[in-house]
Amino acid sequence: MKAPLPMRTFRAPGRVNLCGEHTDYNQGYVLPVALDMECRAAAAPAGDGRLTIDSALLGPGGSYRVEELTSIAPRGDWSDYPFGVARQLALAGIEIPPLAVSITSTVPLGAGLGSSAALEAAVALALTQLAGRELPRLQTAKLCQAAEREFAGTQCGIMDQFAALYGAENRAVLLDCRSLEHRLVALLAGMRIVVVDSGVKHKLAASAYNRRVSECAAAARRLGVESLRGVSVEDWPALEPKLPDIPRKRARHVVHENRRVLAFVEACARGDAGALREIMRAAHRSLSRDYEVSCPELDFLVEAALEIDGVVGARMTGGGFGGCTVNLVRAEAVESFCAAIAARYGQAFRRAPRVYCCRAAAGAGEVKG
Ligand code: GLA
Repeated sequence: MKAPLPMRTFRAPGRVNLCGEHTDYNQGYVLPVALDMECRAAAAPAGDGRLTIDSALLGPGGSYRVEELTSIAPRGDWSDYPFGVARQLALAGIEIPPLAVSITSTVPLGAGLGSSAALEAAVALALTQLAGRELPRLQTAKLCQAAEREFAGTQCGIMDQFAALYGAENRAVLLDCRSLEHRLVALLAGMRIVVVDSGVKHKLAASAYNRRVSECAAAARRLGVESLRGVSVEDWPALEPKLPDIPRKRARHVVHENRRVLAFVEACARGDAGALREIMRAAHRSLSRDYEVSCPELDFLVEAALEIDGVVGARMTGGGFGGCTVNLVRAEAVESFCAAIAARYGQAFRRAPRVYCCRAAAGAGEVKG
């Protein structure tokens, strides 16, 4: 009797972005941190000629014959992420063997913490490795992004997938989304990352996100640049009058946000907590007023956090329209911060936020042992 083929498990982390929001699809800078919350894909060879992906957590998945994977269509549920990845891999010429894949995740879903990119990256590694292939990480990140754009229908940038694959312990990832070069950045000593989930989920977030993408593209066209990355803070005053109201506000955010990412990294290197506070405050204000992706709950969480002792900085994080704030908090003040922010939010909105004290974790890989 043949021994059963072993199951192999792959993990990929969620992410929280420290600075550089809605800049990735404008070829700008981002500074995400991979989190110690992760998606896992456990894959075992199957004898039925099919790729089956299921999850007790996410609900019923799907099953397709492996030779049909290049021609499958989206179904409008969570399975579009993993099957979108399978389709991209198949289109790239990778022969995915028959497999049964089971998904679990500790990344809060739909909270703006990169849960879909974590799912895509974990599945991408599982399918490639079980196909006996190895792809460069950058190609994997691009395939996952393409899956999300073409199959799941969000015109996302590459930040989340890149963070899921390139994250590192105790480091943030500074990524230039134009050259796709990155470097790891040490965070301020003695500072912790605390994520506060407002619990707000905007039903139309995906279409509002896609609208921002096209508004930025329209602004770039009017300014005669390939992307808004082509506009510097110095160029801005002369170019601003050329844009109608909405594209002007969107572009103003992107142009200044790129500069803020670089200033954030410099402030980390200098150990300048005061500068980080101002950069995060300005970033939040810009996302709220110019980019219009915040909401009253997120605005409240940021203002309230800044009044609590030991908080270095706070702002909304991720795509917005609900979701989370990211807070940089001095280690000794984390416990009191968690209690205080929960109490204030509860009083104001009659709901309890979820609060996560996070560590920067390594990017995707196989779970051994
Ligand atoms: C979502 C997208 C990312 C990025 C952020 C906003 O998380 O998936 O590509 O655009 O929103 O910064």
